Amino acid sequence: MDQITRTKVKDLLKSAPGQEVMAKGWVRTKRGNKQIKFIALNDGSTVYNIQIVADTSRFDEDLIRRITTGCSLCVVGQLVESVGSGQAVEIHARQIEVIGECDPVRYPLQKKDTSLEYLRTVAHMRLRTNTFGAILRIRHAMAFAIHKFFNDKGFVYLNTPLITESDAEGAGDMFQVTTLDLGNVPTKENGKVDFSKDFFGKKTSLTVSGQLEGELGATAVGEIYTFGPTFRAENSNTPRHLAEFWMIEPEMAFYDINDNMVLAEEFIKYLVAYALENCMDDLKFLNDKYDDALIERLRSVTGIAFQRVTYTEAVEILEAAVAAGTTFEFPVHWGTDFQSEHERYLVEKHFGKPVILTDFPRDIKAFYMKQNEGCAPGRETVRGMDVLFPKIGEIIGGSEREASLEKLERRIDELGMSRRNLEWYIDTRRYGTVPHSGFGLGFERLLLFVTGMSNIRDVIPFPRTPKNAEF
Ligand code: 4AD
Ligand code: MG
Repeated sequence: MDQITRTKVKDLLKSAPGQEVMAKGWVRTKRGNKQIKFIALNDGSTVYNIQIVADTSRFDEDLIRRITTGCSLCVVGQLVESVGSGQAVEIHARQIEVIGECDPVRYPLQKKDTSLEYLRTVAHMRLRTNTFGAILRIRHAMAFAIHKFFNDKGFVYLNTPLITESDAEGAGDMFQVTTLDLGNVPTKENGKVDFSKDFFGKKTSLTVSGQLEGELGATAVGEIYTFGPTFRAENSNTPRHLAEFWMIEPEMAFYDINDNMVLAEEFIKYLVAYALENCMDDLKFLNDKYDDALIERLRSVTGIAFQRVTYTEAVEILEAAVAAGTTFEFPVHWGTDFQSEHERYLVEKHFGKPVILTDFPRDIKAFYMKQNEGCAPGRETVRGMDVLFPKIGEIIGGSEREASLEKLERRIDELGMSRRNLEWYIDTRRYGTVPHSGFGLGFERLLLFVTGMSNIRDVIPFPRTPKNAEF
C-alpha cells in the first residue's frame, strides 16, 4: 500500500473532496453489480459509514470476492463528492487490501436476527453494530463529562477500595471475596468458618458503595467524587439492575441536603446537555431506530426545574391515586419503600417531570442518614433524597449524613451493626465532625436515560446479572 496516513471515517466525512486518502475499517455491507461495487466501511469513529466505490476491472477478481461483511480493509483512493444520496463524499478506490477475512456464513452479525435480545447472546461481537458503537461512544462521552464537571468545580477524584469489610448500605447483598478452598473450609471450634485463615485474615466482600471511604476524603479535602465499579448480589432480574455496575459518588463537606439537591440537579442537567452538544449523530441514530421521543425528552430535562417533594407528601399523592382508581401491583402506605411503579407514577403521571423525593422513613434507609428532629413517634424520618426520572425511576440516591457522634452510634447499635468494623468511619464524627452530604448516580441508569435504551444490559458492554457472567 502507498505510504499515506490513515484518516478516521468521522474526519473523512467532513473533509474536502479532491484529495488522496487512506481509510481502514470493517465492511458493513457490499452491494453493486459485476462492474462496480459499493462497500460501506465503518471504523467505529462515527455511526456513519464511508462509501468505497470499487471499479471491479481495476482489481483482482479474488480480492473482490474476499471482501465480505465483517472483514477488515485498508483502502487508498480519491475522496470525491458523492453523487448518491446519503453521503457528501465517497472514496474511489485505487488500492484495496483485505487485512482480515471474515467467514460470511459463520459471522454472528450476519444473522437475520438483529434484535437486542439476540445481540446480548453475542455481546462479544455486538460492539461492532451501529447501535453499540453509538452506545459506547455516548458512554465514553458521559464518563469524560463526569470528570470534567467535577474537575471544573475543584472536586478531587478519590479511588475507594473494591474489596471491603463493610456493607455500607446494610442490605447484605455482597459478593464474598475469598481464597479459602471451598471444598475444605477451615473452621473454628464452634464450627464457624475460620476467616483468620483467609487472605485478609477476615471476611471480605466486593464493595456495594464507596461512600463510607468517600466521607473520609470529603472530611479531609472538602469535596471528592468516586467513579468506579460497584457490586450487588441482589437477585433482581429487572431491566434496571446489574450485579456489577458503575457508580459516581460525590461527597461534600459543609453541604446540607439542599446544597446536595442543587448539585445533583445541576450535575444531571450538565450531563444531558453535554450529550446533546457532543453526541448528536449517535443520539439521532438511536432516536430514529429505537425511541423517537428521545431527543425531545433529553431537551425537556435540561430546561425544567425538578419537582421537590417529601416522601410523606408523595405517599398522600399515591394514596389519592389509588382512591381515584389507579391500581398498583404493590400496596403503598406510610413506611413502605416505593417500587418502581410508584416512582414512575409520580414522575410520569403526576408531575410530568423529574422528582426529588426527600425525608424518608428512617427504617427503610441506611444507618448513616441524618435523622430529622421533632418527628412524631413511629414517624421518624431521615434526610435522604432520591432523584426519580421518567422511564427509569430512581437514578440517584443520596442524603445528608448524620454528623452527630452520639446519634450515629445510637443508630448503629439499634440496627445491631458491628461497631468494631466501623470505628474508622465513626472517627470522622469524633474528630472535627462537620455537616456533609453526598449522593450516588448509577452510571448505567444515567445511560438508560441518555440513550433511550430500555434494558440496562444494553448500556454496559458486558453485563453481569444473575446466572450470567459471559464474555
Ligand atoms: O441508592 P443507592 O443504593 O445509594 C448508595 O449506594 C449510596 N451509598 C450513594 C451515596 O449516597 N453516596 O445507589 C445509588 C444509585 C441508585 O440510585 C441507582 O442509580 C444505582 O446506584 N444502582 C444500581 N444501578 C444498577 N444496578 C443496580 N443493582 C443498582 N443499585 C443501585
Ligand atoms: Mg437507593
